Amino acid sequence: MSIADALSRLEGSSLGSLADLQPDEFIGLLDLADAVKKDRDAYRDRLKNTTHALIFEKHSTRTRVSFEVGLKEVGAGSLFLSSNDIQLGRGESIADTARVLSRYVQGIVIRTFGQDRFDTMVEYSSVPVINALTDKYHPCQILADFQTVREHRGDLKGKTLTWVGDGNNVAHSILYGCALAGMHARVAFPKGYDCDADVVRKAEEIAAATGGSVELLHDPVAGVGGADVVVTDVFTSMGQEDETQARLRDFAGFQVNEALMAKADTRAVFLHCLPAHRGEEVTEGVLEGPQSLVWDEAENRLHAQKALMLALHGAL
Ligand code: CP
Ligand code: NVA
Repeated sequence: MSIADALSRLEGSSLGSLADLQPDEFIGLLDLADAVKKDRDAYRDRLKNTTHALIFEKHSTRTRVSFEVGLKEVGAGSLFLSSNDIQLGRGESIADTARVLSRYVQGIVIRTFGQDRFDTMVEYSSVPVINALTDKYHPCQILADFQTVREHRGDLKGKTLTWVGDGNNVAHSILYGCALAGMHARVAFPKGYDCDADVVRKAEEIAAATGGSVELLHDPVAGVGGADVVVTDVFTSMGQEDETQARLRDFAGFQVNEALMAKADTRAVFLHCLPAHRGEEVTEGVLEGPQSLVWDEAENRLHAQKALMLALHGAL
């Protein structure tokens, strides 16, 4: 099947979660991301004469810049709309914002809090909407992550990925990504910081069809044993700042350090979506060490999101 055939169903749709995708669509997006990366000129002007609204209710470096640059590279215009500046930040509803923006732009990218805010944006928009991170999911990150793993370790199917830390938005999307790719996901989190049960159930359901698996643990050493990929993220996500001190205590022992990485497969790679807190969830040595792919991972946000936008806007 060609990439365009694999992705044809996505034209005109939104992406809120990787669970919106079929396994062949997920792999198709990774293939397209590789093609987009290999020949940056080939896709120039594919979204010419379109404008895209980038709504951010939380901070961002990578996501904002990679979307802005990506849109420029495919000939499109972008409008960065911080909620500090638009009426959304003064209480105008998501539903009204969605209907107004849909009269001006051809696509919406939104970073927000609850997934319900994202879902409302989709419900009231008449243009494709992309989730640029919610409290529940971060699908664009995982497209880039898995593109990066494939570049360094080849085919994903059957590989073991261990998530160490908080059962957060990135962890949820990792679970879906592993399930779609037929990978074995292990999540090692402190008690009380589990992934949401509905996400685990859905990931298990997808994995049952792809040959993947999901394992939940509370022991990072057991979790990382023999893993091909080790991933972590900050202990305290955006919006949880009040819990910082409690989290620092509760996540003791969940740092990815050299001793923990030594338990993984000798060819194991390390991922972190960034920003990182060196000395908390990861040591300087691991983050800057030979197994770390974090800079390629950050770069691939650009290519993976260009691929996603081309697919959603039927520009293949
Ligand atoms: N990884 C990620 O989404 O980074 P930003 O918060 O900088 O966008
Ligand atoms: N889990 C983090 C990811 C940041 C890119 C957060 O939500 O703050």
